[in-house]
Amino acid sequence: MSDKATLNVEGKSYEFDVFTGSENEKCIDTQNLRAETGYITMDPGFGNTGSCYSSITYVDGAKGILRYRGYPIEELAEKAIFIETAYLVLYGELPNKEQLKSFSDRLKEHAPLHTNLEHHFSGFPKSAPPMAILSAMLNLISCFHPEVLEVPTTGEQFDRTASLLLSKVRTIAAFAYRMAAGKPINHPNPNLTYCGNFLHMMFSDPYQEYKVTPIIDKALNLFLILHADHEQNCSTSTVRVVGSSRANLFSSVAAGVCALWGPLHGGANAAVITMLEDIKKSGRPLTYYLEKAKDKDDPFRLMGFGHRVYKNFDPRSLILKKRVHDVLEALKVQDSLLDIALELEDATLSDDYFVSRNLYPNVDFYSGILLRAIGIPLNMYTVMFAIGRMPGWIANWKEMHDHNLRISRPRQIYTGKTTRHFIPMAER
Ligand code: SDX
Repeated sequence: MSDKATLNVEGKSYEFDVFTGSENEKCIDTQNLRAETGYITMDPGFGNTGSCYSSITYVDGAKGILRYRGYPIEELAEKAIFIETAYLVLYGELPNKEQLKSFSDRLKEHAPLHTNLEHHFSGFPKSAPPMAILSAMLNLISCFHPEVLEVPTTGEQFDRTASLLLSKVRTIAAFAYRMAAGKPINHPNPNLTYCGNFLHMMFSDPYQEYKVTPIIDKALNLFLILHADHEQNCSTSTVRVVGSSRANLFSSVAAGVCALWGPLHGGANAAVITMLEDIKKSGRPLTYYLEKAKDKDDPFRLMGFGHRVYKNFDPRSLILKKRVHDVLEALKVQDSLLDIALELEDATLSDDYFVSRNLYPNVDFYSGILLRAIGIPLNMYTVMFAIGRMPGWIANWKEMHDHNLRISRPRQIYTGKTTRHFIPMAER
């Protein structure tokens, strides 16, 4: 459905199409704004700017709604496994038995890395951040699979490339961890599930095969499902921007990893744990940290709080808050950081600074505590986010190509020096 929006500027009025999406979101199509009016819009951070029409994920920030291809996150978190959700995000429908089996077989087939790739891990210093290794190795994979550089977005070639990336991102992550820890790498075991295989590659030792328990397997599936996609967030937009130049999928998701790394985005899950540990160690009252977070002159922010879109609550945070309890209980593990996190959330609910700015826990606030329960080391938390987000990155990259979108090239308003002429050195 399309009606019109009118813009009056410099005594003239212009009409632009209004588009209404399937969830009644509305936009003014300003594709011809500059050509017709000479004006551009200015929206630093793109908080009010749509970059695309998408049918992958829907978020309602006011109502705390998140749906992948129409399925509520609460139902997927409860009933699905990660590879089923990844298939849904990628192809638009839940897989039937045969589809899930062949998808799972493709993921198993692609789990191993080319032996020449394995040697690259030993070139990284032990202190190398796993996100740097992940981004580098994702790009490097394409050197060993030149056939995936020109990726069509349909058919067998796309299926192969998507499952190759989804599978190998997990192997690269585990290898990065093992090498940094000075431990021998574990090759993938095709008899294990997607999550079970990851845990095996991370934690098995030469004389002690890691035993995957159902509670841990379920917790890891949940974590990855909750991170599978989230509209046009910073890293997904990065994947789209890079892919819009027709760069290959591996370079595009490698760029997405770099964007995700930042502490305002995916890096927040590790920053939350560091913050909670600092609070625990300092023995200072929570009010000290709340005041610090409010102080404009203090760079400290309450990590895991706030969201550009959710102005009520992040449904993923609610799910994680509940399930973290269940997992710790089932594992008969106490985590004092969870108690601090709950107290911190409580304190903000009665603090006008946070309430007036709609600052509530986001997906990163409790996710780190779940990863701690699973036994994932802190420097791997954002890598885990990247493994979860891989289906979303690939699906958005595919959708962009399917819609044949133009190269991303925003405009600017120049505020620098006007014309001036070269000054010979002797006169400077
Ligand atoms: C993710 O986009 C996505 O969908 C992302 C994500 C996904 O699934 O891909 O959901 C994953 O990245 C979640 C966010 C993880 N980041 C953090 O937890 C870092 C802490 N949060 C903030 O830095 C911030 O809330 C952001 C980055 C999440 C959102 O930033 P915005 O939308 O640009 O908001 P803002 O910085 O303009 O803040 C508005 C006001 C400001 O105060 P005033 O200028 O109005 O006085 O709220 C304040 C901010 O100072 N504020 C905070 C705060 N977050 C915002 N104050 C203290 N602590 C915070 N965490």
